[in-house]
Amino acid sequence: METRIFSKKDIEEAAQILKAGGLVAFPTETVYGLGGNGLDKEAARKIYAAKGRPSDNPLILHVSKMEEVYPLVESVPEKAKLLMESFWPGPLTLILKKSKIVPLESTGGLDTVALRCPDNGVTLELIERAGLPVAGPSANLSGSPSPTEASHVYHDLSGRIEGILDDGAVGIGVESTILDMSTDRPTLLRPGAITLEDLTEVLGEKPEIDPTLLGKKMEDGFIPKAPGMKYRHYAPKAEMILFCSSEEKEHEYKVSKRIAEYLEEEGRGFPREKIAILCAEETKHFYQEMAEKEGIILKVLGRRDEPLSMTHNLFRILRECDEGGIELILSEGYSEEGIGFALMNRMKKAAGQKIIAV
Ligand code: TXA
Ligand code: MG
Repeated sequence: METRIFSKKDIEEAAQILKAGGLVAFPTETVYGLGGNGLDKEAARKIYAAKGRPSDNPLILHVSKMEEVYPLVESVPEKAKLLMESFWPGPLTLILKKSKIVPLESTGGLDTVALRCPDNGVTLELIERAGLPVAGPSANLSGSPSPTEASHVYHDLSGRIEGILDDGAVGIGVESTILDMSTDRPTLLRPGAITLEDLTEVLGEKPEIDPTLLGKKMEDGFIPKAPGMKYRHYAPKAEMILFCSSEEKEHEYKVSKRIAEYLEEEGRGFPREKIAILCAEETKHFYQEMAEKEGIILKVLGRRDEPLSMTHNLFRILRECDEGGIELILSEGYSEEGIGFALMNRMKKAAGQKIIAV
């Protein structure tokens, strides 16, 4: 099939495709989603096939307003309601017990459902016009970084879906925060732009954190509760190594020195033009001379003092590394405060947890 590119003026046509059981990728404030009718088993099957995704990995259902959640769940606990009122539309996904109308095919066989109201005007109108909850995993092929521009979706899924609703580059660049509200204590399953601090303020208590987000390993029997978090996600083709330091003082200088040492020693096996260093605007001067002299690619992720600039660029830069045939990525690590927790979660996954402590 030929994948069509839709713009704002084609929302009605895109909505008709969803209603008819077809697939349309849609923009959100986090990453692009791959949309289909969330109440239709057959659409769910098509989504898994288009992404090449294991069908035990449940889908998020996107709604255009809070009221649309009620038919999809057994009940809405008071605290979940409070969170929706505080953060929707926005980058927060809530897990609740599902109602009968949500097919098990959409939830990977679970009796819970993930719900989110995205903060993007075009998509809110799309959902409203389609008149159904829109199932939407990130619109990438399974295993590659989530798409932050329509061109990324086209690269991964052209020929596999009916259309892409293009609304330019997304803002945040990493997927929504996922909070499980189906258990006794709210539990964070995936960090995102709604931070632990934000959630704590509204809930009046700090949520539990899935142990795998805190470095507990699957080899040791810790299985992430969000099934999707167990796959090698967001991964570039290159081998990626993160250089992290917990020390505040002279941290940046030490990290850059250790990256230079690594290049001299272990990095010798790689052609220089196949190596990329990922760094921040504030620290790029540490690498510039070496990169120019040796022909190493330098990629600036964003500003340390504006972590959102880093989440915004991360997946695009990982894709650029793939396209440039990069074989080794050496990256600085950053603070895990606030949205830094989400940034570092994705960076660690991209690195397959290969971290060198400095
Ligand atoms: O920002 C986002 O959330 C994007 C945009 C498109 O909305 N969507 C997204 O979907 O990231 P996806 O499918 O790539 O990631 C959804 C995650 C997966 O890790 C999945 O396992 C988890 O949510 N999930 C979905 N339903 C769940 C459930 N009932 N219980 C636990 N985890 C669930
Ligand atoms: Mg995904």
